[in-house]
Amino acid sequence: MSGDITEAENYYSKDFEWEQLRLEVETDPTFLYHLLPFNSDGVSNSTTDSSNSSPLEDSDAWNKFHSRHSTGKFFKERRYLLKEFPELACRGHSKVLEVGCGNGSTALPILRATENSVIYACDCSNEALDRAKENISAANLTTAQDRFHPFLCDVSTFEFPKWLACISCQERFMTAGETQYSLCSEERTCCIGGVDLVTLVCSLCAYFYLEPLCFYLKFCWQTRSLYINYLLLFYLTYQIFTLSALPLHRMTMAIKQCFSVLKPGGILLFRDYGLYDMTMLRFYPEQRVGYREYMRSDGTRSYFFSLEFTRDLFSSAGFTELELEYCCVRSTNRRNGKIMRRVWVHGKFQKGK
Ligand SMILES: C[S@@+](CC[C@H](N)C(=O)[O-])C[C@H]1O[C@@H](n2cnc3c(N)ncnc32)[C@H](O)[C@@H]1O
Repeated sequence: MSGDITEAENYYSKDFEWEQLRLEVETDPTFLYHLLPFNSDGVSNSTTDSSNSSPLEDSDAWNKFHSRHSTGKFFKERRYLLKEFPELACRGHSKVLEVGCGNGSTALPILRATENSVIYACDCSNEALDRAKENISAANLTTAQDRFHPFLCDVSTFEFPKWLACISCQERFMTAGETQYSLCSEERTCCIGGVDLVTLVCSLCAYFYLEPLCFYLKFCWQTRSLYINYLLLFYLTYQIFTLSALPLHRMTMAIKQCFSVLKPGGILLFRDYGLYDMTMLRFYPEQRVGYREYMRSDGTRSYFFSLEFTRDLFSSAGFTELELEYCCVRSTNRRNGKIMRRVWVHGKFQKGK
């Protein structure tokens, strides 16, 4: 337990100023190629034009990545995220959507922290979903397997499956802020014999396209009031190191999809690689596939986000910014003692208000 706390504290802290790092990087000639506009950098890419990889090639690369890293050694729970995003450990948000769940390293700590949370988790890689299922089942956590629903979806290219959210609700609430609504922070669902009635009604509603059933009444014990709630739509969704894996031109689709399955007032949690993170500066010129976009030798991609770019991306999809900042963490490489400066972008965005 004390190990968990140390890990969370380490990742939560702000060890250096991002502006200082920016100055150093932008005045260091050895890093110049990272700053050049992509088309004029004069660096020829490899024999194939990897910058235009197809969705199939991208998910294939991730499949291979997850097969290569299938041992338990590679699996490390991201417990610090519960500190960074307390919403993830909040008992009120029973049904959440994870986009790009990988091997389950974010899902498992959430399932541990909350007894009632149900996670719908997608990934474009079948291998990733298999790893996630294995890791969650190996954790031997009561009911965790029943509360984890993995499904295959490339969010940059395909829409979420119809059963995930009621289509008529999605269309109705595509535009943020159109409706009056109330959200209760203390969601209660009725469970009989392990079956969540709300989920059952939701599935039937989606199956038969019964719009009137998309609403249900809910009594909130906290405020002692009755609320109308919308079935199937999510209050919480999160993307942890997922968006950076997508080609730049397909990111908007992934964000808009999340927007469409959120309830009005719903929240999207975002954490990903930040501009001038140590791993960005280690890429070679020939690994650049776009401006701030790189491709590893195994064909997986990595984009590095600035706050400005992140802000534009989410606001153009209809989100309101609640939190957005760089997390700057200094850590030491155990093998060579070198100091590593890690930069992540932490963001919290809301659908309307
Ligand atoms: C860097 S990993 C992060 C995994 C996990 N979120 C974590 O924090 O450990 C990126 C994940 O996104 C998935 N991914 C990449 N492109 C995707 C897409 N278009 N749709 C859904 N998942 C995708 C990959 O298969 C991989 O599991």
